[in-house]
Amino acid sequence: MKLCMIGTGYVGLVSGVCFSDLGNDVICVDKDQDKIKSLKDGNIPIYEPGLSELVLKNLRNKRLNFSTDLNKSIKLSDIIFICVGTPTKKGSDSADLSQIFKVTKEISNSINKFKIIITKSTVPVTTGDDIEKILLKKHNKKKFSVVSNPEFLREGEAIRDFNFPDRIVIGSNDNKSNKILKNLYLPIITKGAHYIHTSRRAAEMIKYASNSFLATKITFINEIANLCEKTNINVEDISIGMGLDKRIGSRFLRAGPAYGGSCFPKDTKAIVSTAQKFKTNLSLIKSVVKSNKNRSNLLLNRIYDILNNKVKNKKISFLGVTFKANTDDMRDSSSLKMIPILSKKGAIINYFDPTGPKNELEKIKNVSFKSSIKKSIEGSDLVIIHTEWNDFKSINFKKLISGKKFAIFDMRNIYSNKKFKNQGFRYYSIGR
Ligand SMILES: NC(=O)c1ccc[n+]([C@@H]2O[C@H](COP(=O)([O-])OP(=O)(O)OC[C@H]3O[C@@H](n4cnc5c(N)ncnc54)[C@H](O)[C@@H]3O)[C@@H](O)[C@H]2O)c1
Repeated sequence: MKLCMIGTGYVGLVSGVCFSDLGNDVICVDKDQDKIKSLKDGNIPIYEPGLSELVLKNLRNKRLNFSTDLNKSIKLSDIIFICVGTPTKKGSDSADLSQIFKVTKEISNSINKFKIIITKSTVPVTTGDDIEKILLKKHNKKKFSVVSNPEFLREGEAIRDFNFPDRIVIGSNDNKSNKILKNLYLPIITKGAHYIHTSRRAAEMIKYASNSFLATKITFINEIANLCEKTNINVEDISIGMGLDKRIGSRFLRAGPAYGGSCFPKDTKAIVSTAQKFKTNLSLIKSVVKSNKNRSNLLLNRIYDILNNKVKNKKISFLGVTFKANTDDMRDSSSLKMIPILSKKGAIINYFDPTGPKNELEKIKNVSFKSSIKKSIEGSDLVIIHTEWNDFKSINFKKLISGKKFAIFDMRNIYSNKKFKNQGFRYYSIGR
């Protein structure tokens, strides 16, 4: 099949490359000329394990193309996936759909034969209806079908998640597009993925409800961890004890920093905002948003305690600054909540991240990237393990640094208290 991915970011690039690997002709379009140029040269603009090899392979066999020419790419394709960003609108909690509607207008100008137009971007319920209305101004219903096919891949596991998803959700109000899309996804369905066909609105809602539920699970265990700290209980025991109950499940039940990333923070806020539009109060998700916002302040207070309330001129090292391991994505990472405040209070901050220095931290006073774990933690008063990269899981702190002993705040509970007994380090973790 001939596919066009509009927006060559984490979602558009990964799914475009994976679709081409399954034998389809795919054009990945982006308005960012530098991005497209570097992709044509085989350079991948994001960190995603395994992606580079797959891009090169499919560039070589000519099933994968990159372009900035949206009009031409749409004309050449049968199925159009909209994969542009839907960030939080400035000054509100709702989703900013301007990129979606801009692309819709461009699609409308380029429809030359029947097209299936799919939102893979996360969009609030009824966005598909709005897209349809825009297209109906110029075309009759026989020329297009608007479908919702939400994406559930996780950064860091994106290729595996694309090829072996738990489910594929297709929300369409007609059978023709459903049949074509079932066929497109057949190689994945035959490997065991569940295929669910719903109404378009239901598919849009499934995505927000799923993300809100996962965010709730994280927030739930984070709050239980707060109580464990006060009652001398190890929250890891609670996660295991709860998680073994099949009705609950163990995933997303590990206490740590506030949830971040490109999805949960914006999607939890957006669903609350959508509900308000429909005069519905999602009080539970509202509380989750509030609790998560407060979480970084709570962890900052613990940092102040560890430093005996003397933050000025203290050397703090962050190991990992992205919102989770195996990605270079900094969007809404809790490090971006904590580092600026610590810097304002006069701390001197080094950080090491396996994906390199970050633009977001460049302009913050007294914050510097170091090229190794050792260089980052040398001379520190406090080392904060912020992200759960494998690189941080077996550090021999004693061997790495001789002399001054620092405090370690392990926000991912990678290590145990026992490890640091008799080594002179003060060790702190979450919920234990
Ligand atoms: N990142 C994830 O893990 C993930 C997972 C599931 C769903 N989603 C959803 O998928 C959508 C995209 O997310 P992302 O992380 O891939 O975003 P991204 O910011 O990485 O990529 C979006 C791309 O769209 C391009 N773009 C914007 N307007 C354009 C236009 N008019 N023409 C061509 N290109 C245009 C941008 O230049 C950018 O490269 C969002 O709605 C997000 O919520 C993301």
